[in-house]
Amino acid sequence: MVSIKNIHSPQQEEESTFDLSAYLAGRQVQVEAALDRAIPLTYPEKIYEAMRYSVLAGGKRLRPILCLATCELTGGTLEMAMPTACALEMIHTMSLIHDDLPAMDNDDYRRGKLTNHKVYGEDIAILAGDGLLAYAFEFIAGQTQGVPAERVLQVIAKLGNAVGAAGLVGGQVVDLESEGKPDISLETLNFIHTHKTGALLESCVVCGAILAGSPAEDLQRLSRYAQNIGLAFQIVDDILDITATQEALGKTAGKDLQAQKATYPSLWGLEESERQARQLVEAAKAELASFGPKAQPLQAIADFITNRNH
Ligand code: FPP
Ligand code: MG
Repeated sequence: MVSIKNIHSPQQEEESTFDLSAYLAGRQVQVEAALDRAIPLTYPEKIYEAMRYSVLAGGKRLRPILCLATCELTGGTLEMAMPTACALEMIHTMSLIHDDLPAMDNDDYRRGKLTNHKVYGEDIAILAGDGLLAYAFEFIAGQTQGVPAERVLQVIAKLGNAVGAAGLVGGQVVDLESEGKPDISLETLNFIHTHKTGALLESCVVCGAILAGSPAEDLQRLSRYAQNIGLAFQIVDDILDITATQEALGKTAGKDLQAQKATYPSLWGLEESERQARQLVEAAKAELASFGPKAQPLQAIADFITNRNH
């Protein structure tokens, strides 16, 4: 069990008994089952096999779980958010398949397994990513039930924005341009991460609440929560790249130094990076105050981000 150490919280009594490990494990099982059903192995099998290989390769499933959690928190049901939750994992996975390609980071391992192109070849890996990206949007549009159509449309538009040149793709471009330039500014580093990882994480959190029909103030609070945990998540990722082993990470460790990448630890040092991450997590949790004890899962997930070892 992961206990929560926020001694300043008024809900400390209840929070300290919240079992995050059990919560995450339960949600992971539900997400895995929904993803397995979402992508059947049909003709032409090769492409579906490649898509399934990466989508069903494990992973923390943090993004779909965040979407389900905010939908429930704001009065919706798991069923309302499950298609969007699955789509978020498909998009995240496709971004990793493409990120690992020789033309990008040229990585051999992901989630403890060989990368998609190592198993299926570069051509199929590119197509598996493309297939997942298109299918994610089709899946939200076609499978979401019990939600007014305008909310579904809002989710699709938000996600499109988070994934394209205004989000993930734009962040990845600046990241690629910054390789071999360890002296880039904090502003550029923040741009990379708020776009490359932050935009999708923010969408996970906000889309769950959009599906539930949340008012604008709640969407803004949840958006700020997500932006803070998004940046904390990246700072911790940078720290783990230095301090964790390949075994713990399920992917190559020490890559940032090798690629001469600017990272938060390279800019601030390890200790200050850890302090900044903790501060962002506290700021994220403060945004949840008005939701009361119902926000326990999101509070605990914020803490988990700085406490994780992979
Ligand atoms: C991992 O970063 C990569 C990402 C979070 C996203 C990369 C985005 C793309 C490849 C664009 C994908 C295209 C679309 C249409 C979404 P990292 O290399 O810093 O982390 P790692 O160590 O896990 O590889
Ligand atoms: Mg990479």
